[in-house]
Amino acid sequence: MRLNEKRNDSQGSPTKGAQVTKQIRSERKQVDHYVKILLLGDSGVGKTSLLKRFADKNFSPSTLSTTGVDYKTHYARINGKRVKCQVWDTAGQERFHVITRAYYRGAHGIVLVYDVTDKNTLENIGYWMDSIQKHASSSVEKILVANKVDLPGRLESKHGEEIAKAHGVKYIETSAKTGSNVQAAFIGLAKDIIERNATGTGTSHEKASADVTNQQGSGKPGKCSIL
Ligand code: GTP
Repeated sequence: MRLNEKRNDSQGSPTKGAQVTKQIRSERKQVDHYVKILLLGDSGVGKTSLLKRFADKNFSPSTLSTTGVDYKTHYARINGKRVKCQVWDTAGQERFHVITRAYYRGAHGIVLVYDVTDKNTLENIGYWMDSIQKHASSSVEKILVANKVDLPGRLESKHGEEIAKAHGVKYIETSAKTGSNVQAAFIGLAKDIIERNATGTGTSHEKASADVTNQQGSGKPGKCSIL
């Protein structure tokens, strides 16, 4: 909101406008935490749509299937701190899985999505959990997202809740179309990542494997979320 107000102030003065743009860029660089989140799940469950809703606040009824990986950055304020959330969207189609697995390693959090109108996508959660266990850091935070809850004929919540419980992860129901719970899913996961890092939960090996390169331009390695 503060940034928008500054943009309005700059109207009519190109010099002041340039100063404000510079100030916004500089403010954006000054983040307290950086979190890298990965979106996983079968093709068509709504991963790209959830990311668009989270980062761009919009929804398109027709999206092209993702090929490989793509990412968007979203800045949020969590626990009074500025947080840069970099969210990586992966292709759900099987032919891309070998490529997308390469992106698991540096992730601090994984949003694992299924479609509440397609039972197969829930049944495949076991496959995704195995893949995460093999290729991601053992300390990665996970959340199971039941997407498309705006649609009729949906699976009952208990099915998703049971799977989440069996894998020891949180469960949330979302709609990328209406926006319901989308912020809560991503911000909740980012909050868990930050709080886990702050309290030092996890073994030293786990914490070491959560190290990432500082994405703010210094090129120096930075701890998982605290820059
Ligand atoms: P891949 O890129 O192939 O892995 O698919 P994806 O998981 O990224 O799915 P995508 O976001 O492309 O969505 C697939 C279709 O579902 C699109 O037509 C979306 O508009 C639609 N869709 C996604 N989320 C929702 C939702 O919450 N509600 C409804 N009604 N449709 C949705």
